[in-house]
Amino acid sequence: MKQHIVVLTGAGISAESGIKTFRDADGLWEGHDVMEVATPEGFKKNPELVLDFYNQRRRQLQTVLPNQAHLDLAALEKTYNVTIVTQNVDDLHERAGSSAIVHLHGELRKARSTGNPEAITPWDQDLHLGDLCKQGYQLRPHIVWFGEDVPKIEAAIEICQTADILVIIGTSMQVYPAAGLLDYTPKNTPIYYIDPKPASVPNKAVTLIQKSATEGTKVLLDLLKDKV
Ligand code: APR
Repeated sequence: MKQHIVVLTGAGISAESGIKTFRDADGLWEGHDVMEVATPEGFKKNPELVLDFYNQRRRQLQTVLPNQAHLDLAALEKTYNVTIVTQNVDDLHERAGSSAIVHLHGELRKARSTGNPEAITPWDQDLHLGDLCKQGYQLRPHIVWFGEDVPKIEAAIEICQTADILVIIGTSMQVYPAAGLLDYTPKNTPIYYIDPKPASVPNKAVTLIQKSATEGTKVLLDLLKDKV
């Protein structure tokens, strides 16, 4: 029976693909006011500003490729049952070939109805005021904004509860409930944390791999090889 590896990823895994992280120097939140572009209140106050912010990110996403870390996680499926739980709204895990992915914070290449949150549709072009769902409601980016519920958190908790190994890659562990997921892994589950500037992870036996995602994933594969 293949062991179950759960991989919790954040913006850091996509940094080497050319996508800015949020809180690093020159991060996305340096250039933009979070409350203006990533809250329902901000969208109400200035929808054009918010739509343009995500249009720019969606356009940029179409110019980048998965990096070796994304590819290595997809290849790991040969030996392990791998589930990716990502905070990222990019589709680089999908494009790398990973088959089991949960997006906690939404997806940039989808739009959602403001009148019916279940009405989610693929969306690759710019999104504008006047772009409506079938029921005539304005469409918005399918992104979980600050202060909004995280609909997939229950599913993610269940996934973590069946982890044989937990791998954390490129996240500052500052945003909840995602950062609390490691508390749901079974006792004594080995945890590996790949990040050049890792956050402190109190009272958990964590193997720190203080490297970039691409370098760190290589180290992880070697460590796992010795375990098989
Ligand atoms: N490889 C691995 N990790 C990296 C790299 C790299 N090349 N470059 C930076 N990092 C690490 C940083 O050290 C930091 O710990 O990636 C992390 C990025 O942290 P954040 O910018 O806070 O991103 P993230 O943790 O994913 O943010 C969580 O916050 O803004 C919201 O909804 C948004 O999903 C996002 C959530």
